Amino acid sequence: MLIIYSIQELQNHLNSIRNQKKTIGFVPTMGALHAGHISLVDKAKSDCDVVVCSIFVNPTQFNDLSDLEKYPRTLESDCQLLERAGCDIVFAPETKEMYSETELELKRLKIEDKSWTNGKLVDFGSLEKVMEGAQRPGHFNGVAQVVSKLFQFVEPDKAYFGQKDFQQLAIIKSMTNQLGMPFEIIACDIMREPNGLAMSSRNERLTKQERDLAAVISKTLFSIKEQYKSKSIQDLKALAEEQIRTVPSITMEYIEISDSDSLQPINDFKQSKSAVVCIAVKLGAVRLIDNVLLY
Ligand code: PAJ
Repeated sequence: MLIIYSIQELQNHLNSIRNQKKTIGFVPTMGALHAGHISLVDKAKSDCDVVVCSIFVNPTQFNDLSDLEKYPRTLESDCQLLERAGCDIVFAPETKEMYSETELELKRLKIEDKSWTNGKLVDFGSLEKVMEGAQRPGHFNGVAQVVSKLFQFVEPDKAYFGQKDFQQLAIIKSMTNQLGMPFEIIACDIMREPNGLAMSSRNERLTKQERDLAAVISKTLFSIKEQYKSKSIQDLKALAEEQIRTVPSITMEYIEISDSDSLQPINDFKQSKSAVVCIAVKLGAVRLIDNVLLY
């Protein structure tokens, strides 16, 4: 497995792979890898000849500087996991390789920077006005900024994203459509701990006891899935809030039942061909998100 830090070296290497008519599967990550990330690598490996995984803690998608600083950085053990999973290339750039000082300064000043779209207009519209987009202003702009850069460097045939970040997946699909990027975006299932907790790099910051308590999050979502045919959306949300309140150390940020394409909240299941329930909570200082597709 190759570990590459520079864009130039990455592109040189990938050009020779493309010349050999091999297909490239790409898995973008921020590291602190767990079985959820590795499931994306496994899927990429089964679909493509060569798998590239990027590890880059992207500063422009963090709203909170202390969250960025606390984000776990475990490159060495990440590379061991990736090597075992059969990944071919790890791209692990430094921040200065990915961003100019101007780009970082614009972000610090909260000035919207669309230079990454190469002058094309990208508008996520109502897709970024709800849930994570509403709670974390500028977050998806930062995600789209880094992913579009990575896509330009890697030029994959297929790119793999987890449904764990359901709204992120919708944003990435919208971005590639709007920018006319020709590759396929593959959605992958959520990997969970044995108690149902969705795997996340942020779980590392929970104590054993907190991880046990956090099981209530997915239990609540799955209980909505069991009951949605016989109850109103209002009642389902009220039941969910009650269930989360049984664990006093968890505070609910939002629970939304939404159309799975537009991500807009719905009041009646008849309004949507497909619906998803999404949740964000705080457990101590750690913010956790999860979702379950209802139908
Ligand atoms: P990160 O949180 O490291 O996640 C990388 C990829 O792994 C994402 O597509 C995410 O949805 C997926 N993933 C995380 N937990 C998962 C789980 N339990 N099961 C399945 N897939 C899971 O998402 C990001 O990084 C960043 O925003 C990124 C796209 C890399 C841009 O910086």
